[in-house]
Amino acid sequence: MELVFATNNTHKIKEISPLITNSFRLLSLSDLNFFEDIPETQATLQGNASQKSHYIFDRYAINCFADDTGLEIEALKGEPGVYSARYAGEGCNFQDNIDKVLLKMQGITHRNARFRTVISLLLDGKEYFFEGYVNGKILNEKHGNDGFGYDPIFMPDNYTISFAEMTLEEKNKISHRGMAVRKLAAFLNI
Ligand code: IMP
Repeated sequence: MELVFATNNTHKIKEISPLITNSFRLLSLSDLNFFEDIPETQATLQGNASQKSHYIFDRYAINCFADDTGLEIEALKGEPGVYSARYAGEGCNFQDNIDKVLLKMQGITHRNARFRTVISLLLDGKEYFFEGYVNGKILNEKHGNDGFGYDPIFMPDNYTISFAEMTLEEKNKISHRGMAVRKLAAFLNI
């Protein structure tokens, strides 16, 4: 059976591909020749994940799932949260977002944060949600070159390295997205 991961983020596809195997053929949006940005205008991760999966389902009527992820920093009252992608403004990049977080966290010693992912799956016309999270701390500066997004400034609890210093396998084992995708895979029985 074919299952589309409704994202244009190649990092996300690389991360989850090893976790969705066997009976499902995982397709990306480029396999559908779809290269637009999917709107994410909702106020919650669940709302955005659902908006993204429905956007693709409405156009292609194909089983699909989408994820939405937020970095929730306690000292910033949950920011950037659902606004993680555009925290530093429209058209910003990963570095701009990291710079904004580090600036806001200057002088703050309470650095607890978590990544949270919600997946919306549309399977045979019905919607299912799966959630994953990982607790950690915001580092004082960037560490490591792998991963993407806020990975260089996030150190998961019980580790002494950032997500950007881990292999894909290490990150998948403990990450928000890894947890959510494993729940999805268990539901799909794969
Ligand atoms: P979205 O789920 O694509 O909307 O992601 C929101 C923002 O969080 C983007 O800026 C991503 O780069 C960032 N993000 C999503 N997943 C991760 C991750 O696993 N590590 C670091 N940053 C992430």
